[in-house]
Amino acid sequence: MDIQRRRRSCGLDMMRLTQSCFTARCWRIFRKKPSQILDIGAGTGRDAAWLAGLGHNVLAVEPVAAFRAGGKAPKWLDDRLPDLLKTRGLGRKFDLILLNAVFQHVCPEGRVAALRNIAGLLAKGGRIVMSLRHGPSAKTRPAFPFAAGEVEGLAAECGLVILAKCNRPTVGAANKALGVRWEFVVFGGAT
Ligand SMILES: C[S@@+](CC[C@H](N)C(=O)[O-])C[C@H]1O[C@@H](n2cnc3c(N)ncnc32)[C@H](O)[C@@H]1O
Repeated sequence: MDIQRRRRSCGLDMMRLTQSCFTARCWRIFRKKPSQILDIGAGTGRDAAWLAGLGHNVLAVEPVAAFRAGGKAPKWLDDRLPDLLKTRGLGRKFDLILLNAVFQHVCPEGRVAALRNIAGLLAKGGRIVMSLRHGPSAKTRPAFPFAAGEVEGLAAECGLVILAKCNRPTVGAANKALGVRWEFVVFGGAT
């Protein structure tokens, strides 16, 4: 797969996947076709559509009806964190679970349950790729801050290991002025 070329047509920030640690941690899954991929908080379904176009079997989970109605994903499910009741009810396991700019919307009290439920959906050898937005959010989209070490604590509580982690500054000028930064984490199962 030509990730650099795909990046230009894809909103998913594959730049991080081109970094050696991320590529190494996720490459096997991208090469296996079709991988079973779950995109939680899929928004417009942009990333789900792109991954489906690469030959993967992608399910997009999104609680907002307007996103699902006008969205691009091939398969949608109306479900939400932390419970993911309908998703878990499918009895499926996923090779790759994406949480792109979503987990900061889960309140701190719900995060262990949310990540435990997500971990329960992971296939053997699978990966969870999470991007977290740190910094002030729009009033219409409340987000909750992360405490130092919280991600590591969550992983330990949920039987996951952190395989890669990095911080990146934001790109847009307005968010830069607000001090927004992004954190990217790849989790795998403990065994
Ligand atoms: C900033 S958008 C990111 C959308 C998409 N992942 C992307 O990268 O473009 C956050 C998304 O998370 C969804 N979301 C918010 N709270 C959620 C929850 N509790 N469970 C699942 N999705 C949620 C929103 O509806 C929205 O689509």
